[in-house]
Amino acid sequence: MDATTQRAPRPLGLLAELTHRCPLGCPYCSNPLALEGRSDELNTQTWARVFREAAALGVLQVHLSGGEPGARRDLVEITQAAHDAGLYTNLITSAVGITAATLGKLSDAGLDHVQISIQDNEPGTADHIAGYKGAYARKTALAAEVVRLKLPLTVNAVMHRANIEHVEDMVVLALKLGAKRVEIAHVQYYGWALKNRAQLMPTREQVDRAVKSVEALRLRHHGQIVIDAVVPDYYARFPKACVGGWGRRSLNVTPSGKVLPCHAAESIPSLTFWNVREHSLADIWDNSPAFLAFRGTDWMQEPCRTCPKREQDFGGCRCQAFALTGDARAADPVCHLSPHHARLAELAEAREDAAYDYRR
Ligand code: SF4
Ligand code: FES
Repeated sequence: MDATTQRAPRPLGLLAELTHRCPLGCPYCSNPLALEGRSDELNTQTWARVFREAAALGVLQVHLSGGEPGARRDLVEITQAAHDAGLYTNLITSAVGITAATLGKLSDAGLDHVQISIQDNEPGTADHIAGYKGAYARKTALAAEVVRLKLPLTVNAVMHRANIEHVEDMVVLALKLGAKRVEIAHVQYYGWALKNRAQLMPTREQVDRAVKSVEALRLRHHGQIVIDAVVPDYYARFPKACVGGWGRRSLNVTPSGKVLPCHAAESIPSLTFWNVREHSLADIWDNSPAFLAFRGTDWMQEPCRTCPKREQDFGGCRCQAFALTGDARAADPVCHLSPHHARLAELAEAREDAAYDYRR
């Protein structure tokens, strides 16, 4: 069976990276190291077409993201277009650059949900991690406005060595802000985070404490707030099915219109990405070489090829496999069956208390 005939179900989610511009400089930003510039960004009409094509393809949710989506002057029009296409619209924002007035207009345009990233529970350290003085105050102020407008709020808490001991405080903060959900997600080491891995990596003991803490918090706050957690996979035995499996559930459109199977796919140099300026989203999903490259299981090599878990985790993360082994078809080294697994433990020990290399 070839990769096309065994293709996955239709995608459910679209990550729309509206811009790579952002006032913050988080050292674990998921954007690529080579950021796309303002002059290359898609215009409002093209985004509107992309949303209509996405809805026709089966997509239900669009995540309006960046960079900081508030850097786009046409964010309200873009949100309106996504809403008009029938998509559930989720704004993923740093909250810096979105005023209360803009939020009101976004709500009127049909915005369904807001996710605000908060870097730590203390203003000083939060601003230090974000590389932006005053960010924390603006985040908490916008969160209050989100709740006042009765929009559901999720707090995104990215955890790493400097704040992993504050898991409980972050949940308390999210509750205080009126969030319905908090996402305690450990840094995933691609792009900027890979560059800052030694500065960000927690110890195994810290991770174990954080995992226990999340379990206790879930029990304590059951019915008050949903706590989602992503553990750091350098300390795991099995990999996650990254993005739900390559080309199976979601797609990512960059500010200039390139369509990627995951946000870090450009880190694999052998891949070629088609652009929404030249192809429809359906054509890209079905036929573009980047989506076909690792869809299904035909591309796998041992130990994944004959592994009973291959349809569950799809061999883990392709970007991580490439970053750590130089071979994007290799098993994700997080897997204990990978011949490279021992290397992860060495890398996790290579911690360094140096200054962050901020995303600029
Ligand atoms: Fe997953 Fe491959 Fe490991 Fe099996 S060998 S558990 S398919 S990464
Ligand atoms: Fe690209 Fe995991 S981030 S496959």
